[in-house]
Amino acid sequence: MQGKRILLGVTGGIAAYKSPDLVRRLRERGAEVQVVMTAAAREFVTATTFQAVSGRPVRTDLWDAAAEAAMGHIELARWAEVVLIAPATADFLARLAGGRADDLLATLCLATEAPIAVAPAMNHLMWANAATRANVAQLATRGVAVLGPGTGDQACGEVGEGRMLEPLELAEQLAALLAAGGELAGRRVLITAGPTRERLDPVRFISNRSSGKMGFALAQAARAAGAEVVLVAGPVSLPTPPGVRRIDVESAADMLAAVLSELPGTHVFISTAAVADYRPLRTAQHNIKKTSDTLELAMERTPDVLATVAARADRPFVVGFAAETESVEQNARAKLMKKNLDMIAANEVGDAKAFDADDNQLIVLARGARYELGRAGKLALARGLVSLIAQQLAARTDRPQRGTALA
Ligand code: CTP
Repeated sequence: MQGKRILLGVTGGIAAYKSPDLVRRLRERGAEVQVVMTAAAREFVTATTFQAVSGRPVRTDLWDAAAEAAMGHIELARWAEVVLIAPATADFLARLAGGRADDLLATLCLATEAPIAVAPAMNHLMWANAATRANVAQLATRGVAVLGPGTGDQACGEVGEGRMLEPLELAEQLAALLAAGGELAGRRVLITAGPTRERLDPVRFISNRSSGKMGFALAQAARAAGAEVVLVAGPVSLPTPPGVRRIDVESAADMLAAVLSELPGTHVFISTAAVADYRPLRTAQHNIKKTSDTLELAMERTPDVLATVAARADRPFVVGFAAETESVEQNARAKLMKKNLDMIAANEVGDAKAFDADDNQLIVLARGARYELGRAGKLALARGLVSLIAQQLAARTDRPQRGTALA
């Protein structure tokens, strides 16, 4: 939803008191929100409230000369990337179904090419009325998305179907709706992130430095592009991006097991995890005591999760990461070949630059292609990388065999 321009229409129902909270939920997700109120909506909530939470002047009137001079209603209709009417009263649904243009909001709905979603809110008998049913059915055939309504206590004291969905749920449903047309719609993406921990004894472990931020940003970006996303995460302290399924693991062996069990049906595997390359040969049952001045540890290789996935006959599109301290591109290209990847994203990590940082830059190598994603926030980079993956995937979909001859 980042940067999406949402036109929020508020019509005159008691549920309008929840709409300022909806504006906040949408803005939290990075959307720009322009509120348009009907005359009846202003009987319930003031325009001042919406102006404060949206950070933009509210539009209420088709005949407001000053507002029209700033951005005419046709311009506003073009500005919107999606229109959400919440709450949508029975009267507004009827006007929308009838193609009326008798106030600013109805006119905008008629003039826009953006998709329209409505969140009905009304008394359960009004919702059940044949006239409303016919209007809603009519709107649905025109591609208007109907979100809700929910069932429960109503303002009139009755109980039934007709409550507006809660702001958080509306924001989530709208995000899913926007994502449904995304570049990775219908794809399943599996991502590893964070470090792994290899136990020495009950209180000690060997690990890698990794915040997990890049992998989590990729999960968020892939989800926003419409993918079903599974995130296999080592120990990190990051919140799970909304709509993403997360599986927490500890060691490289756990990570491999989780990845292999999630692999069926996966179209893209992205390996951002900083997997420990070695693990102690033995894990002590009790704390290792300080009995000598030096301590030698026998270590063995951990499984290479990325290479294991890339070596399978039923491999998805496989993307690796390379953190290099020198000869970034040369080393990354060598890894692309050695691990038989479809794509590799490389960055320089001298002075622990990229660790924990919120921004980064990447060189992306794929079969016969090279891209540079300039320094930016990890989410912006993740979006760029997701787009490159989607392009490569679309170009290869028709090929019977992929991922063999590289670069
Ligand atoms: N990786 C993995 N499992 C491992 C080690 C690495 O899945 N046990 C993945 C990482 O997630 C990353 C890629 O492999 O996507 C690159 O890892 P790196 O350790 O840099 O590559 P190596 O081939 O092990 O090279 P190096 O000799 O530089 O360690």
